[in-house]
Amino acid sequence: MTQAERKILVTSALPYANGSIHLGHLVEYIQTDVWVRFQKMRGHQCTYVCADDAHGTPIMLRAQREGITPDELVARIKEEHVADFAAFNINFDNFHSTHSEENRELASHIYTQLEKAGHIARRTIKQAYDPEKEMFLPDRFIKGTCPKCGAEDQYGDNCEACGATYSPTELKNAVSAVSGATPIEKESEHYFFKLGDFEQMLKEWIGHGHGTSSTIQPAIASKLGEWFEAGLQDWDISRDKPYFGFQIPGTEDKYFYVWLDAPIGYMASFKNLCDRTEGLNFDDYFARDSHTELYHFIGKDIAYFHTLFWPAMLEGAGYRKPTAVFCHGFLTVNGQKMSKSRGTFVNARTYLDHLDPEYLRYYFSAKLSDGIDDLDLNLDDFIARVNSDLVGKVVNIASRCAGFIKKRFDGKLSDTCSEPGLYNEFVEAGKTIADSYERREFGRAIRDIMALADKANVYIDEKQPWVIAKEEGKDQELHDICSTGINLFRVLMTYLAPVLPVMAEKVTDFLNLESMQWHNCAQPLTAHGINKFKPLMTRVEKDKVDAMLEASKEELAKMQEPATPTTGPLVDDPIAETINFDDFAKVDLRIARIAKAAHVEGADKLLQLTLDLGGETRNVFAGIKSAYKPEELEGKLTVMVANLAPRKMKFGLSEGMVLAAGPGGSDLFILNPDEGAEPGMKVK
Ligand code: MSP
Ligand code: ZN
Repeated sequence: MTQAERKILVTSALPYANGSIHLGHLVEYIQTDVWVRFQKMRGHQCTYVCADDAHGTPIMLRAQREGITPDELVARIKEEHVADFAAFNINFDNFHSTHSEENRELASHIYTQLEKAGHIARRTIKQAYDPEKEMFLPDRFIKGTCPKCGAEDQYGDNCEACGATYSPTELKNAVSAVSGATPIEKESEHYFFKLGDFEQMLKEWIGHGHGTSSTIQPAIASKLGEWFEAGLQDWDISRDKPYFGFQIPGTEDKYFYVWLDAPIGYMASFKNLCDRTEGLNFDDYFARDSHTELYHFIGKDIAYFHTLFWPAMLEGAGYRKPTAVFCHGFLTVNGQKMSKSRGTFVNARTYLDHLDPEYLRYYFSAKLSDGIDDLDLNLDDFIARVNSDLVGKVVNIASRCAGFIKKRFDGKLSDTCSEPGLYNEFVEAGKTIADSYERREFGRAIRDIMALADKANVYIDEKQPWVIAKEEGKDQELHDICSTGINLFRVLMTYLAPVLPVMAEKVTDFLNLESMQWHNCAQPLTAHGINKFKPLMTRVEKDKVDAMLEASKEELAKMQEPATPTTGPLVDDPIAETINFDDFAKVDLRIARIAKAAHVEGADKLLQLTLDLGGETRNVFAGIKSAYKPEELEGKLTVMVANLAPRKMKFGLSEGMVLAAGPGGSDLFILNPDEGAEPGMKVK
């Protein structure tokens, strides 16, 4: 590796657009962000892109449940994700979406190249199909009884009770998690990517090293060895409609499987950035002969996609391959898998409601290494560590010296450095620390930085400025000690800046610096004016941590697992954001008499209702067919939202909504007001 300016493109995995960002995700985004900030501080041209992973069945179904289009859903979630990441100071150069024009073009192009080169095969396969919903069912959308141990309510691919893996057709009493119908088997033609064509290339790619880092980590290499051993299988890259994704060129009803266009989303996000950034050229980074560096940070669960499919796709389509793929382990909290009932499944937003993001950035960094071991967020240790390291050690150095500089020396540091030996030791240590950052050994970097912080504190303890300050004629000595303390603090904060960008920014102001580049601290600050010291960080309080866990428990009690389908389409919907009383008062609820109820030609859920509001009639489509026969409804009173904006549906205009409740299917109850109510009456 040279010290000349490098051109580096970095990605984090693209979060699914059907769920919120949680602390587990943040391991990855914080790890990547720290690395990128480090590279930028070193003066390299480093670009960090990401995007939402917008396609796939879960997103399509969730949008249907919410009664909005998938486009609307992914736009809303993207906004939420962007806000969460920004709050954690994840400094993307671009955050795009796989549901974008750039991605459509690149995915089509890559597919077409692969097809031309003969890497695409077609075969007819049999799959589970939901005859009611008229869609093929991914394994996770089939539930039934485990064929091995008999545990009920297991997913179509594996049993959570006994760990058995099987195909959905082996499940007993299988039902579609989407509609509750019994799946049937149905044939359709699928498109496959012939991964086996790339075996030799992949083996060579894996063997390649770059500077201090190899293409993949040893633990992943051994996993890959097993995969090669088992034989590389063709990869099914098509899905039949209905599917939320991109249509495969040259087909009418086939879509790219979400995982085909997901990694292409890295390129699409970068392309989108290049198109509006002077001096950033897409081909410089993706042409086959590119000399720039390309790194993907991912969790170990998605290594297969990134170390086999992705490099093979790039190779087959004529692009360069990643320089390296960096895997990390999974987050546990208090030694266990994140758990909703314990409140340890914490969303990014919930954390932010209670705690400072810098704490988490520090704690994760202190625990991260270059390996794929899981990482534990032990909450007691989190509190102790942040308080003792950051507040107790680092901030303490500045707070012990700053006051004297301000009060006694007009805010100006000494003209010379009185401890060049000590200062140089700090600067020298920066080499090892930089090397640790480069190798993603953040834990080691933090340990070294804290050892320096201890040293700085020992220096101050020994010199006792607070004693000297009271002695006659010791002004110069006091000035030198405090100036040294401030200079050491500056070096430490420079080293911590990739991890603690907010605190580093405050220190930049406090020390009156132009910027905090890594190499700036080679020389100490002398005869330099600094500003008033303001508190840089407050202690983590245990009651805040407890409040966060409590809030997570409450919130998640109401929430469904974002990525998993449920049997009743409506049951596990998360409670929406709270509305204030004024919002509520806007909803005009009226008693209505069901004058007429009829089947809707071609709709399997809807009934068409003619509602009498006492003088006015409304046409309303209601999804209650599974629960009521039309003739049962006629003449009944119900409650309706009378001022809902009319909505054009496939079958006609719907001018309101009737209220119903229940888990779904045949247990869906239309709300019947008491006798004595009159159509048109306002519901209070
Ligand atoms: N959409 C895919 C990635 C496509 S990349 C072309 C995906 N999304 S995800 O939202 O499930 O995960 C995003 C990243 O967060 C992945 O790298 C995943 O490994 C990581 N993590 C998700 N949960 C995690 C933990 N509990 N702990 C650590 N990382 C975790 O996979
Ligand atoms: Zn089982």
